[in-house]
Amino acid sequence: MKTQTIELRIRLRNATAPLHKQLNQQPWLVALLSKELALPQYQQLLGIYYSLYYQLEVAIKHYIDQQPIAFDYQPRYKAPLLLNDLTYWHIQPEPLCCKVELPSINSLGALLGLFYVLEGSSLGGSLIAQHLYQTHGYTRSTGSDFFSGYGEQTRSHWQSFISYINGYSDQPDLTIQAIDAAAQSFACFNQALANSQMLPFPKV
Ligand code: HEM
Repeated sequence: MKTQTIELRIRLRNATAPLHKQLNQQPWLVALLSKELALPQYQQLLGIYYSLYYQLEVAIKHYIDQQPIAFDYQPRYKAPLLLNDLTYWHIQPEPLCCKVELPSINSLGALLGLFYVLEGSSLGGSLIAQHLYQTHGYTRSTGSDFFSGYGEQTRSHWQSFISYINGYSDQPDLTIQAIDAAAQSFACFNQALANSQMLPFPKV
């Protein structure tokens, strides 16, 4: 009897669902989706995210430069969007301000695990973009380029990404490496946020 292959995306989702849930309870992300988040805290968060994405994307570029992959990641880099937001808000970018333990990207599987977390975060990002617009009026060109992400192409970008990774569903070693790196990537986000003390909220 032939055993059915479970798609890599489904395996990643099942393995990381509790980590996603835990991350969403992180005070920074709770504040981001509340009405209270004030501009200084939002700007501070953009600075943290910039540093985090900068470091993760340097690791990605390094891997891809050594071992080219069959997927065009170039249009998906997010540090440039964060840089646009920092420029808009007149904030000096500090690429290394966040001290984090990066996931080790030493195999294709590990790279795909990191991609999964980064691409998945843009799904939540579009909800956040909507909230930031409705609550504070921020738009792609007025300080919220990063969360606006792929905009109306969010779904199609996600679909093309998961078709790509599901092409590797029949590779057990790669799957293990991907799950491990995805867990490390969630931990990295958690660490970056947990290590950054939020500015006090203004008194009303
Ligand atoms: C408050 C912040 C966040 C919210 C509200 C949120 C919400 C969501 C939602 C609603 C989805 C499902 C979208 C769909 O399938 O239609 C999703 C998927 C996902 N999110 Fe988040 N998210 C947040 C932050 C993050 C962050 C920071 C990360 C990564 C570091 C992340 C990683 C993922 C991943 C990997 C998926 C794909 C799960 C799958 O395979 O279906 N999310 N998120």
